[in-house]
Amino acid sequence: MGHHPTKTTSEMELLPPEIEQYLERHTSPEPEALRQLRRATHLHALRPQMLSGPVQGAFLTLLARLLQPLRVLEIGTYTGYSAICLAQAMPEGSLLYTIDVNEELQALARQHIAAAGLDGRIRLLLGPAAEWIPQLDETFDLVFIDADKAQYGRYYDLVFDKVRPGGYIVADNVLWYGKVADERAQDADTKAIRAFNEQVQADGRVENVMLSIRDGLMVARKR
Ligand SMILES: C[S@@+](CC[C@H](N)C(=O)[O-])C[C@H]1O[C@@H](n2cnc3c(N)ncnc32)[C@H](O)[C@@H]1O
Repeated sequence: MGHHPTKTTSEMELLPPEIEQYLERHTSPEPEALRQLRRATHLHALRPQMLSGPVQGAFLTLLARLLQPLRVLEIGTYTGYSAICLAQAMPEGSLLYTIDVNEELQALARQHIAAAGLDGRIRLLLGPAAEWIPQLDETFDLVFIDADKAQYGRYYDLVFDKVRPGGYIVADNVLWYGKVADERAQDADTKAIRAFNEQVQADGRVENVMLSIRDGLMVARKR
């Protein structure tokens, strides 16, 4: 990770910047609504590196295009970037629920979701995810976990029975800037992500693959 000596660990990309840029230049261009949301996020929100970004965003869009999910649950809306990426490729009559504790960011998300013409497809839920999940009376085709890292394992357990057989659980930041594979990293978030990765890997109820897209995506299919 020596290619960003001036950046803090939390800002580091796993790949050298020229490779990240190359990936971006060889991925379908970011739709205008998402480009504007990315710009607004950088202007108005703290920690804009939390947003999925154009390559991971295009992958989420592709995933929704492939799976055609009718019900999606996202844990961690932030400014709505990944929600829009998924929802724009979901079929007629589908719904994406997205949960976040941050009211201020939700307002920004709401504005951009409306601008993308997706307000009928996306439901914004305000409050702690662990409180919302048990209240959702739906069967999900896809769950995207992307909120507080300490609770990834808990979210996985809470959503598991609500995912249909053949449905997917996708979790972001499973490489945690590479810290999961660095024995010296013993902070709480790194330990929590490691434990989550072990939990999925040991779970015979799923078929899983860890992808090195951006900060790492765990993709698990419920058998
Ligand atoms: C990495 S960001 C989500 C990024 C977004 N999915 C995207 O790709 O554009 C994580 C979000 O989780 C939210 N969050 C943190 N703790 C939470 C909790 N207990 N319940 C729900 N959301 C939470 C934060 O407010 C933050 O907006």
